[in-house]
Amino acid sequence: MTATDTGIIINNTDIYTTAVKKGQYPDTGLPEVAFVGKSNVGKSSLINAMLGRKRLARTSGTPGKTRTINFFHVEHKLYFADLPGYGYARISRSESEKWGEMVEGYLQDRPELKRIFLLVDIRHEPGNHDKMLYEWCQHYNLPFTLIATKSDKLKRSQIQKHTAMIRRAFGAAEPPVAFSSETREGRDKIWELILDSCGIDML
Ligand code: GTP
Ligand code: MG
Repeated sequence: MTATDTGIIINNTDIYTTAVKKGQYPDTGLPEVAFVGKSNVGKSSLINAMLGRKRLARTSGTPGKTRTINFFHVEHKLYFADLPGYGYARISRSESEKWGEMVEGYLQDRPELKRIFLLVDIRHEPGNHDKMLYEWCQHYNLPFTLIATKSDKLKRSQIQKHTAMIRRAFGAAEPPVAFSSETREGRDKIWELILDSCGIDML
């Protein structure tokens, strides 16, 4: 694997472990980053774009595609954890409780977790669930970064206005990183944060 001027190229991404509870998470001790956010916000698409793969993480236009925690082993050095989005839980209360247990259970007890990426759609005001996730990250004292997804859906001139709106809505110190899995805007910045957080010089 090499880091070049044109960005990181991934050669080795293994298929993943699927988990719904502790005990099923990978136990190699390797560092890990996680991607959370509402259903359909683009978590699985972002993982594919980061890894330069089309269909490694399964995506769908219908919210609720990812329903388990899926771990992707990257270059034998770290894991990406793709978390189920809230929102599919509209289906039933018990589904909603299951989601809460699965996601909060993971966030509160995972020493390998070095950074959380909290994804919100660049076009919309963050909702209550986004704010709840933001508060969980603060509460459990986890390093986290906001990402504003689907930046290709806005005109260039609108992007800064929207990232400023999202920063204000969370009361965050920094605006979110604008990202698009179509144009790959933001990919290098996110890789930099991942490698830094995991203490990896080069993949
Ligand atoms: P769940 O697994 O349901 O939680 O959703 P998710 O957050 O993993 O979303 P997913 O990656 O499956 O993407 C949802 C839809 O948004 C798909 O139709 C994607 O093609 C689309 N999408 C994701 N990212 C982008 C993006 O950057 N730009 C555009 N235009 N569409 C995107
Ligand atoms: Mg998904």
